[in-house]
Amino acid sequence: MRAVEYTDAGGPEVVALTEVSDPVPAAGEVLIDVAAAGLNRADVMQRRGVYPPPAGASPIPGLEVSGRVAAAGLGSPAAVQELVGVDVVALLAGGGYAEKVVVDARHVLPVPAGVDVVDAAGLIEVAATVHSNLRGEARVQPGETVLVHGGTGGIGSFALQYLHALGARTLTTVGSPEKARLARSLGADHVIDYREEDIGDRVSEITDGRGADVILDVIGAKYLQTNLRSLAVDGRLVIIGLQGGRKAEADLGLMLARRLRIIATTLRSRDAATKAGIVSGVGEELWPLIEQGRIRVQTDRVFAADDAAAAHDYFDSGAHSGKILLRF
Ligand SMILES: NC(=O)c1ccc[n+]([C@@H]2O[C@H](COP(=O)([O-])OP(=O)(O)OC[C@H]3O[C@@H](n4cnc5c(N)ncnc54)[C@H](OP(=O)(O)O)[C@@H]3O)[C@@H](O)[C@H]2O)c1
Repeated sequence: MRAVEYTDAGGPEVVALTEVSDPVPAAGEVLIDVAAAGLNRADVMQRRGVYPPPAGASPIPGLEVSGRVAAAGLGSPAAVQELVGVDVVALLAGGGYAEKVVVDARHVLPVPAGVDVVDAAGLIEVAATVHSNLRGEARVQPGETVLVHGGTGGIGSFALQYLHALGARTLTTVGSPEKARLARSLGADHVIDYREEDIGDRVSEITDGRGADVILDVIGAKYLQTNLRSLAVDGRLVIIGLQGGRKAEADLGLMLARRLRIIATTLRSRDAATKAGIVSGVGEELWPLIEQGRIRVQTDRVFAADDAAAAHDYFDSGAHSGKILLRF
């Protein structure tokens, strides 16, 4: 089968189409004929050589796909065999940039009704990350105030729509007036331009000095002080990305006085049973919102698999809003 691999650590020039042998599903696994794969920042970090795949994962990049189940592993239970012929999305630890992929059947969900099978490729990684962190870890409640950094990125655009549907009040940061308009259309109640404004001052102003109950952060070290300063009493900071570095000082006095919590998680390295629970929660709580049109899939651009290097180049430019997909 055709697959996209990295020939070395580096820029988009190391992204190359290759021929590899087809994967074979074991009992409890399904083989998917991939329609499309979603690009994620983790793929770019893997390409740069700073984020190797976890033990046992495919060296082929790609954390999420959509496509049709072509086969179930020999000895699979009836519920797994019944998936054959169904259009699904799958959460992967790797291997998605390929014509075929094998995955634990507990990590797939049917494509939501009304969503195009190619667009669906960009759903599960963001849905699982947003749900497991905002609901599972931070326990966001309707009526709470949540700051989402990067409101028009893959994660941010999904998080804003989900929080709006949940009845939370949202603040978000963006890098341009055009992205500010998009963030508002996704349900953001207040938008802060991180290139022009002081985030801490603006959060304080918008919340009358109270701060946000929860912050979903994709920046890490560079924003740690600002984030802690921007939290309300009993606030929760959930760090899921380190685009602004991994080491920083924290004001522990401030944390004690306001009873703040810092949570940091990564989805990719979670064990299979935990991922199965996360995927099932996404199916129960988020799939109905997508099928009702309350969360829309934000596809920015679809590239042919042959143009995977161009897709990575575009991702690196930061010009995108929402998801970039590779069609197989
Ligand atoms: N821990 C996990 O399990 C997990 C899972 C999935 C993703 N992630 C992480 O989540 C992050 C976002 O992933 P993605 O796929 O959504 O990437 P993406 O689509 O490229 O989005 C990146 C976002 O970061 C924003 N950003 C960049 N610099 C910023 C700054 N200084 N202040 C505020 N926002 C800034 C961008 O805003 P502008 O475009 O407006 O500049 C953009 O919205 C990545 O770091 C990724 O590694 C973590």
